[in-house]
Amino acid sequence: MKRFAIVGASHRCLSMFVRGLEGMRGKTLEFIAIYDPNRTRCEVFRKEVGDGLTIYSDYDQMMQTEKPDGVIVATTDNTHADYVIRTLRYGCDVYCEKPLTNTYENCLAIRKAEKESGKKVYVTFNCRFMPYFAKLKELVRSGVIGKIHSINYEYILNRWHGGDYFKRWHGMMEVSQGMLLHKSTHHFDVINWLLEDEPVSVSAMGLKSFYGNPERCLGFRCSQCDKTAECESYKSQSAPMDKALYFDAEHEDGYIRDRCAHRPETDIYDNMSVSVLYKKGTLLTYTLTLFAMKEGYNMTLIGEKGMIICHHFGKDGEEKQDYEIELLLRENEVEKITFPRAEGAHGGGDVKLREMMFGDPQPDPLGQAADSFAGVASAMIGIGANESIKTGRVYDIASALDTLR
Ligand SMILES: NC(=O)c1ccc[n+]([C@@H]2O[C@H](COP(=O)([O-])OP(=O)(O)OC[C@H]3O[C@@H](n4cnc5c(N)ncnc54)[C@H](O)[C@@H]3O)[C@@H](O)[C@H]2O)c1
Repeated sequence: MKRFAIVGASHRCLSMFVRGLEGMRGKTLEFIAIYDPNRTRCEVFRKEVGDGLTIYSDYDQMMQTEKPDGVIVATTDNTHADYVIRTLRYGCDVYCEKPLTNTYENCLAIRKAEKESGKKVYVTFNCRFMPYFAKLKELVRSGVIGKIHSINYEYILNRWHGGDYFKRWHGMMEVSQGMLLHKSTHHFDVINWLLEDEPVSVSAMGLKSFYGNPERCLGFRCSQCDKTAECESYKSQSAPMDKALYFDAEHEDGYIRDRCAHRPETDIYDNMSVSVLYKKGTLLTYTLTLFAMKEGYNMTLIGEKGMIICHHFGKDGEEKQDYEIELLLRENEVEKITFPRAEGAHGGGDVKLREMMFGDPQPDPLGQAADSFAGVASAMIGIGANESIKTGRVYDIASALDTLR
């Protein structure tokens, strides 16, 4: 049984790992300790796990006292690298939330520390585990559409979901490096994994088109705003987990979860367009927009022998019941591949990831468990894209990845 410590008393960690792994606790793993500067949030975790979970206000003290076998890192994105590296140096495997990190220097430092430690970094890229993408991977791998020359991937979020990122730490470049890291790291990883290829170069454009507009800024925070009825990004803090983790804990560190999505100080983009060239000659055209009326994605893969169309949009805010992938091997002859919707968060991906990474050992025929190279390969597309937006030039990812092997 593996003894785990947690770094980051975050919402994600509570739902994905502590609650999500409840059935495995006492069998394949146990949670023994938690570190987060915010004690109130740690107490929420202890209530959930029990008195066996020791709370630490000092990370090194936790590692030295508890000597865990593994550490789950689920803090704000800008702090991942520090804990990943220090955990490796303590001789522990690390399970890090995405993105693995969000700067090139941190990518380099993580890869170096991993090699020196002989321990392993896993990145919890749950999209790879969605039955939808697993099916797509099988299709691509089967070679049915031949060599893939072109992928068009459009991802759009509605104003409630998209606006949510502007309410807290994600809205500041310094912390999240924006959505091309925080959100698109999933999407870039899925493409890298589907193609079994590496990105060579990226060029991008980005705008803050909708959020952070002082004319739309309705109030300091949702819970003190009297115009919530007219706001498409209104976020209530009434859900018990939100109240316990954020509202009741904000007196300690001033982390306010429901700030106005239109507060002017945010500096991330909400409207992005990215082109990526891959080593084997695939061109990816990707867009991410955070202020739509409906959310979902379109992905079209065009190959030598055929094409695959993925079209996945919510219906009245709900996800579609059945999943569908369209396969075309001749003009206008559409074969519909349908399969039932999977249960659980993130299209069923979270459940599968937990089974693979935290359950009894099992085969991984599709290569779904992501390592640190996958983490840096995906991150470098976002890092390069941000750089390209700033400079207006194409960013050379291949040279960066060569230093990260
Ligand atoms: N895989 C997914 O689908 C998915 C979904 C949501 C979030 N995430 C990831 O999970 C992580 C947590 O996200 P969240 O929205 O749940 O976060 P959150 O805002 O709920 O919590 C962030 C936590 O980090 C802590 N923290 C901040 N600075 C710290 C530091 N220097 N040292 C230690 N702790 C620190 C805060 O006190 C807070 O408890 C992020 O990396 C995010 O990208 C992944």
